[in-house]
Amino acid sequence: MKRILSGLTPSGDGSLHIGNYLGAVAQFIEFAKNNECFLFIADIHALTTVQKRDDLQKNIENLILNELALLGDLTNITFFRQSDVPMHTELQSILNNVTPLGLIKRAHAYKDKLQKGVAEEEMNMGLFCYPILMAADILIYKPDYVPVGKDQKQHVEICRDIAGRFNKTFTRSVFPLPEAHIPEDVAVITGTDGKRKMSKSLGNIISIFEDEGTIKEQVMSTYTDPTRKHATDPGHIEGNMVFTYLDFFGQKEEVDRYKEEYKKGKVGDVEVKNYLFKTLMKYFAPARERYQELENNPGKVKRILTIGAEKAREAASRTMMEVREAVGLTNKYSFFEYF
Ligand code: TRP
Repeated sequence: MKRILSGLTPSGDGSLHIGNYLGAVAQFIEFAKNNECFLFIADIHALTTVQKRDDLQKNIENLILNELALLGDLTNITFFRQSDVPMHTELQSILNNVTPLGLIKRAHAYKDKLQKGVAEEEMNMGLFCYPILMAADILIYKPDYVPVGKDQKQHVEICRDIAGRFNKTFTRSVFPLPEAHIPEDVAVITGTDGKRKMSKSLGNIISIFEDEGTIKEQVMSTYTDPTRKHATDPGHIEGNMVFTYLDFFGQKEEVDRYKEEYKKGKVGDVEVKNYLFKTLMKYFAPARERYQELENNPGKVKRILTIGAEKAREAASRTMMEVREAVGLTNKYSFFEYF
């Protein structure tokens, strides 16, 4: 089994939409079928941008529920919160010492802000050092692959760079170099406007855990074929978001039948949209049920997080003992143990 690790930052409100599902969660579920997976909520990372305590609390709780409900079966998945495994930040402190300032100055997140004219006085060190904490998140578990979106590719490269420098500086190969895994085909899911990447801030999403009425509205406002004036006009499938989503979630023969009828002008937009709505409700029914169950059982969620944190701490502690040893923090007076 290969080891897979990924993190999710609760910088948004934590509610996931079908674009998040297709772009990240579905892929992780695939990985979990035959790999050892670590998945965590990067709550300390969120502090770089979310500094209202009520917001942060809500974002984190919501992301935990969304993610757990979508994942369902946690076989092969260790699910935990970053802040429940304090070794991440301990390792970051050590990695700081082998990380060149120049390397971090070249990181996109920081550079983009500078270019946009954000003053250095306005940037906190958490944001600046984001890639070093992320490197610690990754290296502490020695994963083979790190599934991330395209925008995180540079962060994984910085992580590899830091790992290499650590190994070289302390002349021990403590950290294997992890590989970024960036999904190709499902990387970007276009939103219901048919134009831009599906994203909450653009208002072009289809939700998963909202009430049925809201989801129905989102489906009904989905971009289809602007050249089609009447249901009897021949319709186009290409670029028609209803069919794009149906290709992912629908049952193939049924979807093919709707496509044929749509092209011949035998079925209207409303009817295919109704079919998409029904399809989504059916597809996500088990996840929606789990969401309700978890929301009504905080104790259950807490248990999942406790078990996850215990497993994660065990792996993280082993690496940290190696790190302490490699850098020379251990000596004849040492007694420290993590457990
Ligand atoms: N920076 C990642 C994102 O915004 C989240 C993250 C934090 C992460 N630590 C990680 C992803 C470690 C993978 C591995 O998506």
